[in-house]
Amino acid sequence: MAGMDGMAEALEQRVKDRSARLGVIGLGYVGLPLAVAFGKAGFPVTGVDVDPKRVERLQAGESPVEDVESDELATLVAADRLTVTRNSKMLAEADAIIICVPTPLGKHKEPDITHIVAAAEAVAAILRPGHLVVLESTTYPGTTQEVLLPRFAARGLRVGEDFFLSFSPERIDPGNKKFDLRMIPKVVGGVTPACGRLTRLLYSQIIDQVVPVSGPRVAEMVKLFENIFRSVNIALVNELAIMCRRLGLSVWEVIDAAATKPFGLLPFYPGPGIGGHCIPVDPYYLSWKARLAGYEPRFMNFADEINRQMPLYVVQMVGEALEQRGKMLRGADILVLGVAYKAGVGDTRESPALEILEHLIDKGAQVAFIDPHVPVLALNGKSLVSVRGEALDLPSRDLVLILTDHPEFDYERVVRESALVVDTRNATGRVSTPRPHVITL
Ligand SMILES: NC(=O)c1ccc[n+]([C@@H]2O[C@H](COP(=O)([O-])OP(=O)(O)OC[C@H]3O[C@@H](n4cnc5c(N)ncnc54)[C@H](O)[C@@H]3O)[C@@H](O)[C@H]2O)c1
Repeated sequence: MAGMDGMAEALEQRVKDRSARLGVIGLGYVGLPLAVAFGKAGFPVTGVDVDPKRVERLQAGESPVEDVESDELATLVAADRLTVTRNSKMLAEADAIIICVPTPLGKHKEPDITHIVAAAEAVAAILRPGHLVVLESTTYPGTTQEVLLPRFAARGLRVGEDFFLSFSPERIDPGNKKFDLRMIPKVVGGVTPACGRLTRLLYSQIIDQVVPVSGPRVAEMVKLFENIFRSVNIALVNELAIMCRRLGLSVWEVIDAAATKPFGLLPFYPGPGIGGHCIPVDPYYLSWKARLAGYEPRFMNFADEINRQMPLYVVQMVGEALEQRGKMLRGADILVLGVAYKAGVGDTRESPALEILEHLIDKGAQVAFIDPHVPVLALNGKSLVSVRGEALDLPSRDLVLILTDHPEFDYERVVRESALVVDTRNATGRVSTPRPHVITL
């Protein structure tokens, strides 16, 4: 018992005086801002990533994600406060290790936890008494205790005594300038009370509010619920948008007016489909696990189905808009504004723009795109280069299609100079130029 308390106390002390070394596995949208936040708080940090190009870029102080300025990264790297490496053995020097690797879907939309398993094995290989390990990747309830714990326990170490293990979901919203890492409360579920206590202490160094829950499975479920809540509500407003168009109503006006109700309504907005690494993926993590427990979920699967129909619905809208002006989709010159899955970021993973562009090209349209955050887009094995501002040539386009409402776009100009606009984000909603030629979702 004395040994256990001593182990926890020693780590606690190092966290408090910020001499504890942090290890972060996976330096992407989640891991890099976290590594930088701990580095800025005074902790020495070792960041590990398997992608050699990413490691090289980070070592050169170049940030690939919007939420981290290259300057602050370069300063930390130059001062040896953040060491970036491919070598996971270097984690042996760390006191606390946070795992932030991707959790994609497999071929049959089943959870693909190979990255978590690889990270867990890398940690197991260097695990020693006193280590605190936290999983942050979004995953199904049970992963921490069913996938990580047995691998660590096989080293002959006891959880909560020799080492400490927790799950704490990441909730950052890349590109969101209103809520930074510090302001977003962090949910923590430890395998044992000691695990939870140490993990809460660690995060409280960089985050204002830490929310304890009874264990990792709850914390894992919390994250899935948050994203499924979004998926379901987005599906609801997407369907509302389809109905409003049929009824000749503006769904945007309806939602904004409804949102004035001071209680009981949270506004969500329709769009061309769901994208990114979370909303399209996470419901499958839960439905897979629920199925194993003998329950076939329906509601969230249905929501996902509606959301996935949106790209095709947008293609239909484009075809109809052209037809009404006596033009055909085949051969039409279409400029797409924005291909990232949401405003302010350059992330095109699962972006509905990919599917929409593919369909438009398949149907014979001449498609160009502009996105200030995405210089080149890989589409069907080909590279499409973003047109430059001066080559926008709005008046000569048959149709301008707004898919991402990046703040950098000049929507007044888009409405003023374009002959026909399909706006899937209501980005032109506030322009002063009359908009009879703008069709909104
Ligand atoms: N992007 C978001 O907005 C967001 C928000 C909250 C939670 N999440 C979750 O966080 C997790 C990470 O997402 P992300 O967006 O940061 O992914 P990402 O792809 O941006 O970054 C993951 C990084 O991990 C690296 N990696 C993969 N396997 C590795 C391994 N075995 N060892 C070391 N490095 C490895 C990859 O090379 C990549 O650089 C996912 O589970 C995701 O669902 C993402």
